[in-house]
Amino acid sequence: MKTKKVYLFTFGMLLIFLSSFGIWKAYVAKAPFTDSDLKMMNKELIKLVEEGDRLWHSPELGTNGLTCGNCHPDAANSNANTFPKFQTNIGDVATLRDMINWCIRVPLEGKELPHDSEKMKALEAYAIYMYRMQQLRPGDNSKEYPSNPVKSGPGYP
Ligand code: HEC
Repeated sequence: MKTKKVYLFTFGMLLIFLSSFGIWKAYVAKAPFTDSDLKMMNKELIKLVEEGDRLWHSPELGTNGLTCGNCHPDAANSNANTFPKFQTNIGDVATLRDMINWCIRVPLEGKELPHDSEKMKALEAYAIYMYRMQQLRPGDNSKEYPSNPVKSGPGYP
């Protein structure tokens, strides 16, 4: 017990020591980003969303000429805000990436993507971005949620 207290005390002193140099701050909290930092970050995200949009409307993910957009225009009915949730066709709690792969394999008759691939990241970014105005409802299988209304253009940024 005593050694535990000594460790805690030492750790505490170390934190105080590090924070006095402003070093610890970098690890515990988000930096107050500048406007140009935020702009740069958003630009990078939109680039990924754009790539997701391209893939979503490209037959390259499958083998039968279908695209995600044929059945999910503007990401509609992908219900990106409801994941993770139980999927009866998978028989388990599925992530959005699991379901993207299910649709690549089944309706598109394509080859599933590795979950950590750039293409998967882009498809996920597009779907979530198109659902950005919806409240997160993990597990909700009660109904379909519309994606953000698109009056013209791709629906972003
Ligand atoms: C031929 C029509 C069709 C195409 C093409 C298609 N899907 Fe689907 N998608 C469905 C159907 C049907 C379901 C519902 C399956 C279920 O939940 O039983 C679904 C469900 C989904 C879901 C989960 C929705 C939910 O709430 O359960 C996501 C996410 C999804 N699709 C993404 C995609 C992506 C990404 C692509 C392209 C790679 C794609 N879909 C292509 C028909 C299609």
